[in-house]
Amino acid sequence: MTQSFVSLTAKQVMQEAPVIPVIVLHDVAQAVPLARALVAGGIRMLEITLRTAVALDCMRAIRAEVPEAVVGAGTVCNARDVDDCLEAGARFAVSPGYTTQLGAACRERGLPLLPGVATASEIMQAQSDGYTELKFFPAMQAGGVAMLKAFYGPFSHIHFCPTGGITAQNAPEFLALPNVVCVGGSWLVPADALAQADFGRIENLARQAAHLAP
Ligand code: 3PG
Repeated sequence: MTQSFVSLTAKQVMQEAPVIPVIVLHDVAQAVPLARALVAGGIRMLEITLRTAVALDCMRAIRAEVPEAVVGAGTVCNARDVDDCLEAGARFAVSPGYTTQLGAACRERGLPLLPGVATASEIMQAQSDGYTELKFFPAMQAGGVAMLKAFYGPFSHIHFCPTGGITAQNAPEFLALPNVVCVGGSWLVPADALAQADFGRIENLARQAAHLAP
């Protein structure tokens, strides 16, 4: 049965599926067919990165036309981004790094945030501000599986979504870790598939991702 997520939590964002797709869109017209393809494949939490001029319009379009999707904003860096993505209908935010200001902006507005961290000090700062569901970014470059195993010692209660360099091939190794709930990645939405409007291929990639297991 489909959950409605009336008040969404960061933990629910992570637990919905093994993968959160990191999406970069340059054309608003692609937003709705892309969201439908991902949802059809079993992936509903969609991270639309604020890296293109059309990102906010893409969120609005998906909110309006694909009610099964849960639209989130990626590359959220400051309070202005938080206001913009909320206005566009984002239900959660993902950031590449963490600042106390960003954490406060999301908390004040009630927007679930998966803040990016790559070091023990950043984990400690995020944790002291109340964040225990964190994105580990950039996962491969920052130490990959070995780093997450090392974090599990002092930070066993922290849950991670490793992102950056994750693929369908290496995802199971990350998902097998006790402190990893899901992974993030752009491989579900290849640029060439988008360019060719090959939404069938994206649906298949989503279906495989939705069934990834350790
Ligand atoms: C990003 O922010 O671009 C993510 O880290 C995606 O990384 P990937 O392209 O390596 O999946």
